[in-house]
Amino acid sequence: MAEVDNIVVEGVDAMTLNDNEKDDDFVDPWNVTSQNDTGVDYDKLIKRFGSSKIDNELIERFEKITGKKAHYLIRRGIFFSHRDMHTILTLKEQGKPFYLYTGRGPSSDSLHLGHLIPFIMTKWLQETFDVPLVIQLTDDEKVLWKDLKIEAAMKLARENAKDIIAMGFDLNKTFIFSNLDFMGKCPEMYQNIIRIQKCVTFNQVKGIFGFGDSDVIGKIGFPAAQAAPAFSTTFPFIFGNKKVHVLIPCAIDQDPYFRMTRDCAPRLGFPKPALIHSAFFPALQGAKSKMSASDQNSAIFLTDTPKQIKNKINKYAFSGGKATVEEHRSQGGNPDVDVAYQLLKFFLEDDEKLEQTRLAYSKGEMLTGEIKKLAIEILTPVVEEHQKRRKEVTDDVLDQFMVLRKLQFAA
Ligand code: TRP
Repeated sequence: MAEVDNIVVEGVDAMTLNDNEKDDDFVDPWNVTSQNDTGVDYDKLIKRFGSSKIDNELIERFEKITGKKAHYLIRRGIFFSHRDMHTILTLKEQGKPFYLYTGRGPSSDSLHLGHLIPFIMTKWLQETFDVPLVIQLTDDEKVLWKDLKIEAAMKLARENAKDIIAMGFDLNKTFIFSNLDFMGKCPEMYQNIIRIQKCVTFNQVKGIFGFGDSDVIGKIGFPAAQAAPAFSTTFPFIFGNKKVHVLIPCAIDQDPYFRMTRDCAPRLGFPKPALIHSAFFPALQGAKSKMSASDQNSAIFLTDTPKQIKNKINKYAFSGGKATVEEHRSQGGNPDVDVAYQLLKFFLEDDEKLEQTRLAYSKGEMLTGEIKKLAIEILTPVVEEHQKRRKEVTDDVLDQFMVLRKLQFAA
């Protein structure tokens, strides 16, 4: 642990910009790239960030306490890292309350497949633990980082929220808010932001996020806005003034925000937020970068037609296959770099079928065209069904999720 301004910050020695640049992998909340075809080295990242691996012992305890098989995204190591997950399991064991917090930075009208991953996990955790959930839309973040006006970002936030609702979250247990809207309705959020901002120096955010002298001041203050929902008093209409534990499912690039939050928590009298981290969803071009909404050809959007999905996968999905059929048949393909296989790993729930596919492809029994065809068959209905449910989410439904109100806890 590093001492920054005499304050010990978890994992900060691991995470300075310089360190990031020395490595083959670059990971911060705004950019993820790797020099390797297999993508980011996650074991190294765990060390660098100072988080813990989700190991078999944790999975077994999880299954014992919830009485449920762990989600396939956990079993397959896609959610691979955590902080204080054991604390959350102990709370569950003791019948004590906690809540879930996740979010989305609205930067495009439509989500893509990769955006679904943390929400699939969040929904499953909400069902498994029967706990309230708050979802933050950081439209403010996108105004500060992108070429976007306030009005446009707020609109995108509403559109994205509809996609999130279409995933089936329970209205009685879910509160969705946009920062640019909510802050004016709930002074407690701003009060917590100021408490957090008073805990963190410029030196520290420079160390954690790599901010420099020419960054606009809004960026420097923003991390406190993403931290605040991890403190339950930000939502007095749900929690009153109780200081309740929180679990945050997120992609691991968001961890810097929550390292900062965990550092502030005890000083402000709050429990440290627990986290469960996912790996990145690869771009169609391969795992050297993640699927990005700002690069149309890198992503399968939830608004894509079956034809677009088919064309994108056939045309762009990076192949782990060999140059000729003969070579492929004799040497086999490499599923670790093959994007069609990676897409299946994220979305094909049937473990047996996935393993059969991996073996057949590795042995060369299955060709690139065939594994792509399977990926298209699995993903097309995911997108089509989403579109059907999305149509049902009217402005009125959305408004209900955004009303400041009490949420239901487990009995
Ligand atoms: N910064 C995140 C993004 O750009 C959005 C976000 C806000 C978030 N709060 C969160 C993500 C909590 C995970 C957990 O997408």
